[in-house]
Parts: sequence; structure tokens; C-alpha cells
Amino acid sequence: MGAPMAEKRVLLIVAGGIAAFKVPELIRLLRGRGIGVTCVLTKAAAEFVTPLTLQTLSENRVYSEMFSLTDESEIGHIQLSRSADLVVVAPASANILARMAGGLADDLATTLLLATDKRVLVAPAMNVRMWDHAATVANMATLRSRGVGVIGPNSGMMACNEAGFGRMSEPEEILAAILAALEPGARPLAGLHALVTSGPTHEPIDPVRYIANRSSGKQGHAIAAALAALGARVTLVSGPVSVPDPVGVKVVRVETARQMLDASQAALPADIAVCAAAVADFRVASAAQGKIKKVPGAPPPAIELTLNPDILATLSAAGPSRPRLVVGFAAETDDVVAHAQQKRARKGCDWIVANDVRPETGIMGGEANAVHLATESGVEDWPMLPKSEVAARLAARIAQSIGKIA
Ligand SMILES: Cc1cc2nc3c(=O)[nH]c(=O)nc-3n(C[C@H](O)[C@H](O)[C@H](O)COP(=O)(O)O)c2cc1C
Repeated sequence: MGAPMAEKRVLLIVAGGIAAFKVPELIRLLRGRGIGVTCVLTKAAAEFVTPLTLQTLSENRVYSEMFSLTDESEIGHIQLSRSADLVVVAPASANILARMAGGLADDLATTLLLATDKRVLVAPAMNVRMWDHAATVANMATLRSRGVGVIGPNSGMMACNEAGFGRMSEPEEILAAILAALEPGARPLAGLHALVTSGPTHEPIDPVRYIANRSSGKQGHAIAAALAALGARVTLVSGPVSVPDPVGVKVVRVETARQMLDASQAALPADIAVCAAAVADFRVASAAQGKIKKVPGAPPPAIELTLNPDILATLSAAGPSRPRLVVGFAAETDDVVAHAQQKRARKGCDWIVANDVRPETGIMGGEANAVHLATESGVEDWPMLPKSEVAARLAARIAQSIGKIA
């Protein structure tokens, strides 16, 4: 472990959710590491856990009022957010996440979150339907794109007797994320350049029509954000997507596979390449210059396809410009693991992240992913995780191994 954790301070914002019952345990774990904890409760949070409990365990004053003359003269609400090394929201209710995404500052907790200049981690906790709701999905995408770190949530049985994603991560998991964020080595990829490709490609048929695929770019963009969070300088070469650009990442927008290859090669040299884009294998041999017309009575036109360049194989065989670690993605609908291993060998890349994109898995375009990581030492099966979590784990694995590769 790096610098003494005893010198670190966490501002712990507690929102109103049933998972607040896990907060005393989290404070106990943090204090056990010598980390200073200052708690701020929302009004709703105080319905679930008493300020007295948190004050006793944190050995510190607990704040909840914005308009407190005493608190304001003693420390000042802006100072409260600045004197911490890290801001953690646990549990993060659907409501506080919405307020954060919207930039509201309507109580002490959200005012501090808007005023802070420190890294923010959130540990969402809510009913599975609240987590899956389009509003929460959009709010989480906004927060992630601004660099907010997301811990969990886990999948499992919840207090409301429903099962699915939305269960707050366990205190030990939140502690691990906090320790990782507080470590001076929390930016192990500092000084390295990572190239990430993401999204689909569009291959024109004529000026108005194109061949595409269902890739949303969610996984690739999350990987770019996760690598940037670990300190890498990231160039994200993205096909047409509607997900927001990750903060702190250079985004190069392209449409076709050939443009994606050009932009990727132009981004070299890179230490790491993660090819998460769903690049079209084929393009139309010669796209029409004008819109192809429907001719009454005539048969529909035939479209002749030709092979696109293979970006993963090209980067893997880039000679002296080859990134030290090249990671490819394999979207498969059958024999996922076997195909992943074959693809690793065929493309000459170091790792393959394989996922099962049969429509019934909901992975393509969805929020979660169950991947298999094929490396030189075998295949690991990861559980179904939010795409941000897959990205964080992959980035951590990359950071771990990049030091070992000459
Ligand atoms: C018994 C009970 C349990 C609740 N659990 C949750 C929860 O786990 N997650 C959540 O987002 N909201 C939950 N709520 C609703 C929030 O407390 C409510 O949205 C509140 O406005 C949140 O305010 P805050 O974000 O300012 O803390 C619960 C409400 C009740 C009555």
C-alpha cells in the first residue's frame, strides 16, 4: 500500500435508501484503515440511519443542514467538499443520482457534490426497476461520462423481495474501491497511451443507405473511461454512436471500417490497444454515387460485398509500432469460448474478450455484459456485470499486466 491511509479523508454522503444500514459497517472498515470520515446525510437518509450512530462510528460531526449558521461559521459548506481527498455517495439513491446528473444543488449533499473539486464515487442502491428505468440509465451515462466512478450495484435478492441489479455493493467492495481511488498508485497507467475503438461502423450502399450493426458503443466507451480513470492518455476512435463522449478522452469520430483503421493507425504509437468496435467485416464493393432508385417491374439490385480491412489483425502485426498489449473483442453467437481462443491465435493479439451476442442475452446494446477473457494463460469466465464494471475490471487487469510485458 502507498502513502499512509491515516492521512486520507473521505466525505461520505449518505442518501435515503434501505442500504443505509450497511453504512455503519463501511465507516467501521474505513476507520479501521485509519481513514478519516465525515458524513453528510440527506433528509431521507436520516430516516434510515441515525446521525448519532454515524457520528459515534466516524468520531466526527455529521452534517445535514445547508442553512446552519454554526456549521457555516465553523467550516463552510464549500470547504467541507474541498477538505476531503475523495467524495463517496453510499448508498446512492435513484433520486440523488438524478439530482447529480441534473446539476441540482437543493440540499447540503448535492451542493457539496456540485462544489467539489475531488473525485466522486457512487454506490447505487435501488429496486431493479428503478435501476433499469430509462431515466436512471440516462443519468448513470451522464455521470459516468463526467468521470464519476461507479461501484456496483450487484445483482441479487433485495429488501423489496425482487431480484436483479440494484443491490448496493458490500461494504468490503466499497472499501476496496475507496482504497484503490485513494492509493497514489491509483493512476497506474499514467504516462501510457491507450487506443480504444468503439461502436459500429457504417458502410455506405449509396449516399443515403448503409450497412450497420447493433453495437451501441457502451462497452468500448466505458473501457475508454476506465483506462482514463487509471491515468492513461486515451484516444477513442468511435463509429457512429449516441452514447456521450467520456470525459478526459480524445475522441476521433469515423463512419467506415477503412476510416477507423486510418484513424487507429494515425493514433499510434500506443502502449495499449483495445479494439472493442464492432467493425463491419464486409462493405459494399462499389457504393453508388447517387441514390439507388426503385425501378417499377425491375428486380431489386444485387449488392456485391467485399472484405473490409481487419483492424485488430493489422494493429497486432504493426511491427515496431505494435502496442505492447493488444486486446480484441469477439462477438459470437455460438461456441463463444472456442471461437475466442481461435480468434486470439488467428489475429495475433494478446487477449480476446468474448461475449455472447445472441439476441436473448440482451448484451448488444444492453447495460450488462457477461464476458470470457482469453489470455495466454487460459480462459476466465466473468459473471454478468454492468458494462462499467466489466470495463473497470479489464482496465485493472491491463494495468496489472502491462508492467509485466517488456
Ligand atoms: C422503506 C423505503 C426504502 C427505500 N429504499 C430506497 C432505495 O433503496 N433506493 C432508492 O433510490 N430509493 C429508496 N427509497 C426512496 C427514497 O428514500 C426517496 O426517493 C428519497 O426522496 C431519496 O432522497 P435522497 O436522494 O435525498 O436521499 C426508499 C423509500 C422507503 C420509504
